Amino acid sequence: MHLLFLLPITTLVALVGARPASQSLTPTLSQVYETTDTIPLPNIGNLQVHDPNVVFWDDHYYLFKGGWHVPYFKAANMSGPWTQVGTVLDGESVIHQGNRSRPWAPTTVERNGTFYCYYTLSTHGSRNSAIGIATSTKLDGSPWKDHGAVIRTGEGNGSDVWPFTISNAIDASFIRDNATGKAYLNYGSYWHDIWQIPLTDDWLSIESPAKPDAVQLSFIPGQTFRPEEGSWMSYHDGYYYVWFSHGKCCSFDVRGFPVRGDEYNIRVGRSRTVRGPFVDRDGKLLLDGGGTIVYASNHGLVYAPGGLGVMPGNSSTPDILYYHYLNTSIGFTDEQAQLGYNYLKYDNGWPTVLDGIAIKSSAATISRLPGWWSLMILSGLWLCMLS
Ligand SMILES: *[C@@H]1O[C@H](CO)[C@@H](O)[C@H](O)[C@H]1NC(C)=O
Ligand SMILES: *[C@@H]1O[C@H](CO)[C@@H](O)[C@H](O)[C@H]1NC(C)=O
Ligand SMILES: *[C@@H]1O[C@H](CO)[C@@H](O)[C@H](O)[C@H]1NC(C)=O
Ligand SMILES: *[C@@H]1O[C@H](CO)[C@@H](O)[C@H](O)[C@H]1NC(C)=O
Ligand SMILES: *[C@@H]1O[C@H](CO)[C@@H](O)[C@H](O)[C@H]1NC(C)=O
Ligand SMILES: *[C@@H]1O[C@H](CO)[C@@H](O)[C@H](O)[C@H]1NC(C)=O
Ligand SMILES: *[C@@H]1O[C@H](CO)[C@@H](O)[C@H](O)[C@H]1NC(C)=O
Repeated sequence: MHLLFLLPITTLVALVGARPASQSLTPTLSQVYETTDTIPLPNIGNLQVHDPNVVFWDDHYYLFKGGWHVPYFKAANMSGPWTQVGTVLDGESVIHQGNRSRPWAPTTVERNGTFYCYYTLSTHGSRNSAIGIATSTKLDGSPWKDHGAVIRTGEGNGSDVWPFTISNAIDASFIRDNATGKAYLNYGSYWHDIWQIPLTDDWLSIESPAKPDAVQLSFIPGQTFRPEEGSWMSYHDGYYYVWFSHGKCCSFDVRGFPVRGDEYNIRVGRSRTVRGPFVDRDGKLLLDGGGTIVYASNHGLVYAPGGLGVMPGNSSTPDILYYHYLNTSIGFTDEQAQLGYNYLKYDNGWPTVLDGIAIKSSAATISRLPGWWSLMILSGLWLCMLS
C-alpha cells in the first residue's frame, strides 16, 4: 500500500496557482479536504499506524503493522492504550527481495492456536515484490518461524508464472470458504489490481505453483493508472465482501495533494461465492472498475482513510471496520497516520458505517445517542402523554 504517485502530482499547484514551492504543499481546506458531515467521524484508536491489521484473541486486540521487522501491539480496547509486544521477525526476512528489514502491510490470521502472518516485501514504485509467511503459537513477543515466500513477482522463484508476470505481490489478505473451510490468499495493487489464489491446507504455500488457479477480483479497465490496493475479504450472512483502498495513499507532505476525491477511500463489492465475480451496490462489476464507497475523507478533519481490515463481530458486537487516516490538524507524513474504526451495519446486505460506539441488541443495532438527545426524546414522550 505504499505504491503511490506514479503520475506527477501537480494538481494542487494548478488549483492554487503559482506560489513559492514551500507553500504549494499547504492547501486551504476548501481546495482539497472533503468537509462533508454525512460520513461519521472515526472512533479514535489512539495509535499512529499505517495499514493496521487487528486480531481479537484471548480478550485482547492485537495490532500488526508495517515497520521494522513487523511490530505488533496489544490492548484491551480498540481505543487503546496500546503497548508494543514485540516484532514478528527477529531480523531480516529470509526472502531476498525488496526491503528485507522493513516489511509492509501484514495480515495475521489464527487457526487452532497458531497465528499466520502474511507480510509484504517490496520497494516504492516497484513490482519486484514478495509475500512471505511467518507463524507462531504465542503472542507474547517470542520469536516466530519465518517460512519464506508464498508468492513472488518481478524476480525470484515462481515469478515467471502468470499472473505473477503482470501483478504485484503486495498487500496480502486471507479468506476461508465458509462452506468448505478452504483458504485463499488475496493480494495485489496497481499492476492489474487485485487477485486471489488458493492456498495449501497448511496455509503456507499456494496450492499449484505451476498453475495457480488465480482469479482476478478487481480491475479498472481502459486506464494505465489503476489505484486499487490493500484488499481485505470478509464474510457476513451469506456474502463475501471484497474491500480495498482506492486512490492516493500517502506521501502528501512530500508529493502534494491530489484533486479532492482522488485521495484514498474505502470501497467494497460482494459475491455469494468466495471466488466472485464481485459487484458493487449499483450492480457494476469490480472487474469493470466498480466499488461502492463505504468510508472516505470527512469533516475537513479525516483525510485519505484506507489500509483497512474488518474484524468479525459476534452476538453482542457488530463487525468493526478499522483503517488508518490522516488527521488534518495533526499532519500529513506517513508516520502521522492514525488508527480509526467504525462499527458496521448491513442494509440489504450492504455494509455502512455507524457513528460512535455501537451496541447490538437482539432486536437491532443502534448507535450511541448523546445523553441530552435521549433526554429530549424522553421529555417529548412525557409532553405527548400529558397533552
Ligand atoms: C472502549 O472504551 C470506550 C470508552 O473509552 C467504551 O465506550 C467502549 O465500550 C470500550 N470498548 C470495548 C470493546 O471495550
Ligand atoms: C528499508 O527501509 C528502512 C525504513 O524505511 C530504511 O531505513 C532502510 O534503509 C531500508 N533498507 C534498504 C536496504 O533499503
Ligand atoms: C489443535 O491443536 C492441538 C494442540 O496444539 C492439537 O492436538 C489438535 O490436533 C489440533 N486440532 C486440529 C483440528 O488441528
Ligand atoms: C521453487 O518453488 C517450487 C514450488 O513452490 C519449489 O518446489 C522449489 O523447491 C523452489 N525452488 C527453489 C530453488 O527455491
Ligand atoms: C462460516 O461462518 C460462520 C459465521 O461467520 C462461522 O461461525 C463459521 O466458522 C464459518 N465456517 C467456516 C468453515 O469458515
Ligand atoms: C464479542 O466480541 C467482543 C470483542 O469484540 C468481546 O468483548 C465479547 O466478549 C464477545 N462476546 C461474545 C458473546 O462472544
Ligand atoms: C484530530 O486531532 C485533534 C488535535 O490533536 C484532536 O483534538 C481531534 O480529536 C482529532 N480528531 C480525529 C478524528 O482524529
